[in-house]
Amino acid sequence: MVKFTINGQPASVEADPAMPILWVVREQLGLTGTKFGCGAALCGACTVHLDGQPVRSCSTPIAEAEGKAITTIEGIAGPEGELSKVQQAWISEQVPQCGYCQSGQIMAATALLRDNPRPSDEQIDAAMAGNICRCGTYVRIRRAIKVAAGIEPAKGAAQAAEVKA
Ligand code: FES
Ligand code: FES
Repeated sequence: MVKFTINGQPASVEADPAMPILWVVREQLGLTGTKFGCGAALCGACTVHLDGQPVRSCSTPIAEAEGKAITTIEGIAGPEGELSKVQQAWISEQVPQCGYCQSGQIMAATALLRDNPRPSDEQIDAAMAGNICRCGTYVRIRRAIKVAAGIEPAKGAAQAAEVKA
C-alpha cells in the first residue's frame, strides 16, 4: 500500500512499488490528463508535480510518492474550478496544436513560474527544454509563459490595442 495525496485529496493504492506514477494516476485513479509519450523520461508529456517539483511520471516509481503530494493537470485550477494563470494564457495564446504534449508543458511552466515569477527568455528556454512538442508550438509556449507572468499582454489585449491604433 502506498499513501500520498493526489490534487490535495488523500489516496492510497495497492501497487507494485516500482510501478510508474503515470500508470497509477491514469489507470488506478482515472486521471487521464497526464499523457504517455516516450516512456523513457525524454519528452516531458507525463510531467506531474511531486511535492511541487516537476517529475517524469513515466519513470518515477510510485514508491517515491509515499507520504508526498502528487499534483496533476487536473489539480492546478482553483477550488472553484477557476483556471490558473498559466491555463488562461495557454487559451489566450492558443498554444496547443494536437494538444498531446500540452498538459506536460503546462505543468513544467507552472513549476517554472512558481520558482521564478519573471523569467527571461533564456530561463524559459532552459526550464522548458526537456518538454518536447512534435507540433513545434515552442514560440507560443514561450509567449504564453510571458503572458502568465505579466511580462507581455495577452493576445486578445494586444489585438484590441492594434485595432484602437
Ligand atoms: S512519457 Fe515520460 S518523459 Fe516521455
Ligand atoms: S501540441 Fe502536438 S505535440 Fe505539442
